[in-house]
Amino acid sequence: MSKYDELFDEVTAEESLFREKGALDPLAEPDGIHARDAQEHELASLLAGVHEGYVPPTVSIYGPPGTGKTLSTRRVCREFASRTDAVAVEYVNLKECRTLFSAANEILFELTGEKRGAYVGLDGVFEEIWTALEGYPEWTILILDEIDHVQYDSNYEPSDFFYRLLRGEGKLKRGIDLSVWLVSNELLEVDLRLDSRVESAMSDESVFFPPYRPGELASILKPRLERAFREGAVSEAAFEYGVREAARRWGDARKALTLFRQAGETASERDLETVTRECIDVNLEATDREATVSKLHDLPANHFLVLTAVTGWDQGGKIKQPVTTAETLSMLESETYPDELDLGERAVQGVLTDLETMGLVETWIDSRGREGRVKQIETTFEPQWVRDTMVHYVEESTYLGTDTEE
Ligand SMILES: Nc1ncnc2c1ncn2[C@@H]1O[C@H](COP(=O)(O)OP(=O)(O)OP(=O)(O)O)[C@@H](O)[C@H]1O
Ligand SMILES: [Mg+2]
Repeated sequence: MSKYDELFDEVTAEESLFREKGALDPLAEPDGIHARDAQEHELASLLAGVHEGYVPPTVSIYGPPGTGKTLSTRRVCREFASRTDAVAVEYVNLKECRTLFSAANEILFELTGEKRGAYVGLDGVFEEIWTALEGYPEWTILILDEIDHVQYDSNYEPSDFFYRLLRGEGKLKRGIDLSVWLVSNELLEVDLRLDSRVESAMSDESVFFPPYRPGELASILKPRLERAFREGAVSEAAFEYGVREAARRWGDARKALTLFRQAGETASERDLETVTRECIDVNLEATDREATVSKLHDLPANHFLVLTAVTGWDQGGKIKQPVTTAETLSMLESETYPDELDLGERAVQGVLTDLETMGLVETWIDSRGREGRVKQIETTFEPQWVRDTMVHYVEESTYLGTDTEE
């Protein structure tokens, strides 16, 4: 036996608990959609409007993370379009778009395979979008996913973008029938503070995806776990416990899949024959951490910066929580932060509101006698994770560094 036979023997678990770990990858396309019959029905009814000559100009599809919005919306639209010649579906994910201009460019890219330079302006890009759509079937469903990520723009307001998309002259002139399906975590009208001319152009059709309940998570996870693990590798008790905890804490299918993957890895490391309740327990926090850290990586630079200030004070050997707005501001003004990153009080307040909407911080007002009313700020997760993420954020963030896109 060569050195390498021994090496590979050593690293190959004798009786691995996993059969096909990839089945637990949340990005892997599942065979079937479970527990979203009501939402699929609503989406299908909206699409069926095509046969009667009306599809609402906008549809808001919203709900917390990991509740099947992207999966169900794409699947139902794709299946409908493949049965209906008069309909085309285009899907655009706006997660990486920092500005409204780049969001419009991303749509253009999906339609034509090309992007335009900033000099053509938002109007220039939209003009080309309408030209491209002229050659499309009678109806186009445009799915704009993760649209709530696009709100940090110094040149255009969200209302400018939506006004062009819904009421743009080029579109009206050419008589283009477009239905824009907006997928996000919050209801957009509330989140983006759209002005009234845009609101009146939007329909109030919406489809809500609630967090999954235990039985629903069980039906989603069962077929995935059966593929992923050897038979009997996950005890019934561990399955029920994991599903219950995942539903109680998150209602999120993505996190639930991660939880069972990590629990399986723990069982393997400990040479256990089955995944036990304990393996679930030790990973509940690890799963939370993984999800939060990936959210932190995706934050725009200002948002991350403000979080480092919120978690920047120490007290008794620990990170001080909660902190006040004044403490946050004075941390940002301290010499640890370069002058060019100075945001100013109003910008910081705005960022804090965004962070609260994203569920990353909680704020409340304390009355402190003579000092008056003081705003308290606290992270909704272990504050140390911000510090742990810092180096990686600076290296990997798409929001820092040279901006060549626009
Ligand atoms: N009803 C379901 N049936 C089967 N698998 C599901 C279901 N819901 C979610 N999943 C699994 O969870 C993953 C995440 O779901 P999806 O991407 O649709 O969530 P989302 O609601 O769009 O979340 P986010 O708000 O974070 O974008 C899917 O890729 C799929 O693997
Ligand atoms: Mg999604």
